[in-house]
Amino acid sequence: SQSPVKVAVTGAAGQIGYSLLFRIASGAIFGPDTPVQLRLLEITPALGALEGVVMELDDCAFTTLDSVEIGDDPRHIFDGVNLALLVGARPRAKGMERGDLLEANGAIFTEQGRALNDVAADDVRIGVTGNPANTNALIALRNAPDIPAERFSALTRLDHNRAISQLAAKTGAKVGDIRRMTIWGNHSSTQYPDLFHAEVAGKNAADLIDDQAWIENEFIPTVAKRGAAIIDARGASSAASAASATIDAARDWLTGTPEGDWVSMAVASDGSYGVPEGVVYSFPVTCSGGDWQIVQGLEIDDFSRERMDATAAELIEERDAVGQLGLT
Ligand code: NAI
Repeated sequence: SQSPVKVAVTGAAGQIGYSLLFRIASGAIFGPDTPVQLRLLEITPALGALEGVVMELDDCAFTTLDSVEIGDDPRHIFDGVNLALLVGARPRAKGMERGDLLEANGAIFTEQGRALNDVAADDVRIGVTGNPANTNALIALRNAPDIPAERFSALTRLDHNRAISQLAAKTGAKVGDIRRMTIWGNHSSTQYPDLFHAEVAGKNAADLIDDQAWIENEFIPTVAKRGAAIIDARGASSAASAASATIDAARDWLTGTPEGDWVSMAVASDGSYGVPEGVVYSFPVTCSGGDWQIVQGLEIDDFSRERMDATAAELIEERDAVGQLGLT
């Protein structure tokens, strides 16, 4: 078997953590031959509950799980980690303004960015799931000057998977027949799920559907508001699907995307497609050898342009709001 990988998960005692840890421990990211050392971060009051989760991890007797360590100090937990999945965040409480939410999370991701900068392994990759994910990733990367910015990403894979599922249902295709789905922009209701470059069994999805009204009035809002629909139905936010997307994103980033396909990942913009630099924006990317590359050369029509610009504008607003709070 190979040498072990150290994987940090924050918010490990939360809902997503409860679905995520068992899959990581059973080899879902690195496969059956790579031992995993889990390093789990929580706030102090949640450490007791986290001990219970660790008892359950023990009770699974996973052959791929090498060790588990828990704690409330990011400088200890992130020490030497090769992969950090930043899931823990402050949820929006009743009566909390957007500024309060940005401030609370800004403080968390400032501290965690600094700690990763100082103690993570040289090859660390950092995936942010906790909301507001794109802007939290931006704050973390700005506070980690010694880690290349391209080692940070925010999760839009859940939106990507939701879009694939909706397209499969509409066309009667199997999810495995769908390729080249793209989520552009923010993990929020302004995101733009793009069918104009997606393919169903090799055919262009928008041409195949040939129904602009469905794309505008059904598909895009259904994908963008799916999180709210799940809260309404379940009485709690999506957790197992968010954990599954977190796994998909980390696995494809580290082990590569399939030939001829791409995935959606929110990464620091390099100006591609006219997206301003200085925001973490979801693009179509291919991954190989632990690195991602933005897919270049896609034709963008006026309809797509307008939506791509609107979601960029929201990210610039979030970035500026965080700046005003004195958070970098
Ligand atoms: P949860 O509230 O069940 O769990 C969050 C956990 O994070 C709690 O156990 C809390 O104690 C912990 N936490 C808070 N501050 C922390 C800190 N400074 N360090 C370490 N741990 C800390 O929430 P859930 O359902 O697990 O969701 C987690 C986050 O993921 C939320 O921000 C949620 O909005 C986000 N999310 C993102 C999705 C995406 O697609 N990007 C999809 C679904 C959820």
